[in-house]
Amino acid sequence: MAKHILRELLESDIPAVAELERLCNPMPWNAIDLTRFASHSGDSHDSGSQPVGRVAVLADTHEVIGYVCANLVGSEAEILVLGVAPEHRRQGVGESLLIDLRTVLEPLGCYVLFLEVRESNTPAIALYSNVGFEEIGLRKGYYADTGEGAKMMKWNG
Ligand SMILES: CC(C)(COP(=O)(O)OP(=O)(O)OC[C@H]1O[C@@H](n2cnc3c(N)ncnc32)[C@H](O)[C@@H]1OP(=O)(O)O)[C@@H](O)C(=O)NCCC(=O)NCCS
Repeated sequence: MAKHILRELLESDIPAVAELERLCNPMPWNAIDLTRFASHSGDSHDSGSQPVGRVAVLADTHEVIGYVCANLVGSEAEILVLGVAPEHRRQGVGESLLIDLRTVLEPLGCYVLFLEVRESNTPAIALYSNVGFEEIGLRKGYYADTGEGAKMMKWNG
């Protein structure tokens, strides 16, 4: 496996992540979505007193090969997008992104992670279960493109 490092998302990474999203996600975030996400990084508070923020971790060899983006609200976070380049899959990159995300979130006081995943997405469900996510429910008809349901999953620290 090509050795990868894990690091924060930089603005200069956005075209590469948008290209990976196109390969990974049936309803991909484009560069505008990613710029909007990144421009809120480091927000410290919402209208109440909850700390909020955006956290993204990238796997990088000499090019970006994987990414995960999460929203943080108080002590909870939600994974918004996650993907690994097709030619780098089944080499532990997805798992290392999730573990590193936890390492970034914990010092921010965030110990609970949520996500939604397509019912048919066997690889992602296997990955999430493998690192300790548990199914907590089903949202029927959640995905606008196919009408497929979403499994809701939770990772408790
Ligand atoms: C899901 C995804 C991120 C997995 O990334 P990855 O780097 O291949 O995952 P890893 O190599 O870290 O896999 C860790 C474990 O997850 C499980 N897993 C991952 N891919 C799997 C597959 N295709 N089939 C079955 N189990 C799989 C296995 O248990 C694996 O451990 P093992 O290889 O020792 O058996 C990748 O397939 C992907 O980018 N898919 C498209 C985007 C996507 O579905 N994102 C999630 C949206 S919610």
